Amino acid sequence: MTGEAAAGPRVGVAIPAAGLGRRMGGVKKPWLELAGQPVLRHTLRPFLADDRVVAVVVALSTEDAADPPSWLTTVDRRVQAVAGGDSRAASVARAVGALPADVEVVLVHDAARPLVDRGTIDRCVRVAVSGVGAVAGLPAVDTLKEVAGGDTASGASPQVVTTLDRSVVWQAQTPQAFPADLLRRAVAREDLFDSATDDASLVEAIGGTVVMVEGHSRNLKVTRPADLPLAEFHLAQLGGPGAGGAA
Ligand code: CTP
Ligand code: MG
Repeated sequence: MTGEAAAGPRVGVAIPAAGLGRRMGGVKKPWLELAGQPVLRHTLRPFLADDRVVAVVVALSTEDAADPPSWLTTVDRRVQAVAGGDSRAASVARAVGALPADVEVVLVHDAARPLVDRGTIDRCVRVAVSGVGAVAGLPAVDTLKEVAGGDTASGASPQVVTTLDRSVVWQAQTPQAFPADLLRRAVAREDLFDSATDDASLVEAIGGTVVMVEGHSRNLKVTRPADLPLAEFHLAQLGGPGAGGAA
């Protein structure tokens, strides 16, 4: 078996990890520890366990890319670090640009989502292989209000404009998976970088088809300090590093 290619598409993974963690109090989230390991180490685990993955490019802040932690440079020969950009989309574009030219599918996944499971990754890849974009997500559960006005700083409450039809709304997570050529064209749209909060929106903007696939409620994005104990709770439920669905 040695030397044989894995069954399935050649998959590249782009991990944006260059954010400033403002909502976390100005702490770079990839290096925060959960259950004794950096957030990014947990995040990488299920991708590195997938033998269809031929390359993983992590976009780090410029300082971190110049001096990445040694565990990251030695964790797996498929992993490479590059410098990200000023927006999430710019960081993704840099990471995608550093992937090998012959990958067929690209998965994009936030460094700040350390609880992604292999089932969600696999559902995304299977859709992308069929030629369209795939976004992991879940149908909205709360009632959704469109609002106007209001100001978080002064505490002024926004006014409800209308109640949205929840049945047509899903919340998007990552991973998001795309045929490589489609994503490469989408991340060329630098004019949209500042407003894009995910990768699929760039693909939608160039006319690409994107479908939602079932994600997981556990797949939270570590965003605020209160998310850390919650993420640790889920990791403990899964049996710690290397065990359970997040292995
Ligand atoms: N990200 C990135 N490059 C940026 C901004 C964000 O690679 N210029 C990454 C983050 O590192 C994170 C992911 O995109 O893994 C999702 O972004 P978010 O949760 O918003 O993280 P931050 O931007 O770091 O946090 P904040 O918005 O609170 O500052
Ligand atoms: Mg951000």
